[in-house]
Amino acid sequence: MVNAITSAVLLGAAVVSANPVAYGPINKWGGGGSNLASSTSNGWGWGSSTASASSAGQTPFKFPLANGFPDLSPEALRQVEELAQGTLPDGPPVSHLQDGSVTVFELIAFNELFEVAFFSSLLANVTSGAYGFGIDSSILKDQVVAALTAVLAQEELHNLGANGILKNAGQDQIQPCEYVFPTASFDDAIALARTFTDVVLGTLQAGQFGLASDGDVGFVPLLGAVQGQEGEQNGFYRNLLGLIPSAAPFLTRSEPQFAFSALNQNFVVNGTCHGPANDKLFATLPVFGVLNVESKNISLEDQTLTFSVSTPSSESDVAAWKVTYINQQNVPVTESISNVHKSGDVATFDAYFPAKTNLNNALTIAAVTYGADSFASTADVAKATLFGPGLIEIN
Ligand SMILES: *[C@@H]1O[C@H](CO)[C@@H](O)[C@H](O)[C@H]1NC(C)=O
Ligand SMILES: *[C@@H]1O[C@H](CO)[C@@H](O)[C@H](O)[C@H]1NC(C)=O
Ligand SMILES: *[C@@H]1O[C@H](CO)[C@@H](O)[C@H](O)[C@H]1NC(C)=O
Repeated sequence: MVNAITSAVLLGAAVVSANPVAYGPINKWGGGGSNLASSTSNGWGWGSSTASASSAGQTPFKFPLANGFPDLSPEALRQVEELAQGTLPDGPPVSHLQDGSVTVFELIAFNELFEVAFFSSLLANVTSGAYGFGIDSSILKDQVVAALTAVLAQEELHNLGANGILKNAGQDQIQPCEYVFPTASFDDAIALARTFTDVVLGTLQAGQFGLASDGDVGFVPLLGAVQGQEGEQNGFYRNLLGLIPSAAPFLTRSEPQFAFSALNQNFVVNGTCHGPANDKLFATLPVFGVLNVESKNISLEDQTLTFSVSTPSSESDVAAWKVTYINQQNVPVTESISNVHKSGDVATFDAYFPAKTNLNNALTIAAVTYGADSFASTADVAKATLFGPGLIEIN
């Protein structure tokens, strides 16, 4: 059994992220998109070929939960609300959504189903003291179980809320897929929760922008309520990792394409998402090629990072692409690609990362982009992305 605090603190010092490999994406941009087994661990232990093999060999997580979720009886819903310490919003239903707003709630429902699956698996592992998930201190274990019990119920309500909004507006609801988790220890799972929550915190910003710009501004405060709630969760995960609770003054912006790509590249078992709403979401949002961050233990220094992707493109084609970094609320930073090497379909290359100069703490989203030397906005980056997101966490 590991001592969770000690090892979490050690891990906190070493937190790095890279985009792991699991099920290859359907790349709608023609830039790549097959599985790439990285031979190195990425610092979380969730990107190694072992982790990826475990994804391949792992029995996928399948719904429903024991309480029937996502189809809850009224009694089961009440029980979830009690565990969640609150209720679904009870205001009058809104009967129409703009098309863009439909996508916002579809993506939220899609993401929340993954989160329910993840926290359900994590809570079961911690409660049962599964290998790698034992917590020696009974006080800490009780705190973690209490927190995760509430989080699981709260994520169930986030999903039911988003799907309920879709239903009220006459839309199809997002159905669960099957999921795999690349984590095999408590520390890795918490580090992963911290990073995917950071992606969610960034994506909800884009959701608010989308709702406000297409005329469904009335839902913006609801997303703000969810965002704050996810931020509270993340303070706890960061604390467990030995990090201060609040990462940066302005958290990193993301875009729906990056969140959807990360979910499908890492957790969703390809081909297991069914139903008209899921089909519509896959037709609306691309799943980019996987961008592996090969550099490990990335610290707050100006440095050159190494990346890899799987692509049929030639070395000179790859050299013409760029790496673009999104961090906090700043204008994206675009850097040239150098030192390209191809081995089979795997292209390995370098790009400068001025982390210290730009104080790139918290989440940085890296993307391989084409066609421009600079981008005015994160949305412009997403439109020109071939591979990504590469997820880099500093402090
Ligand atoms: C990353 O840092 C941890 C903790 O300091 C260390 O154990 C590990 O070997 C480092 N990994 C790499 C690839 O440098
Ligand atoms: C995922 O499944 C789709 C069909 O459902 C297929 O077209 C695609 O090639 C698959 N991708 C991978 C990486 O297996
Ligand atoms: C729970 O434990 C199983 C078995 O070790 C593992 O495959 C799974 O990834 C764990 N769940 C999480 C969320 O880490």
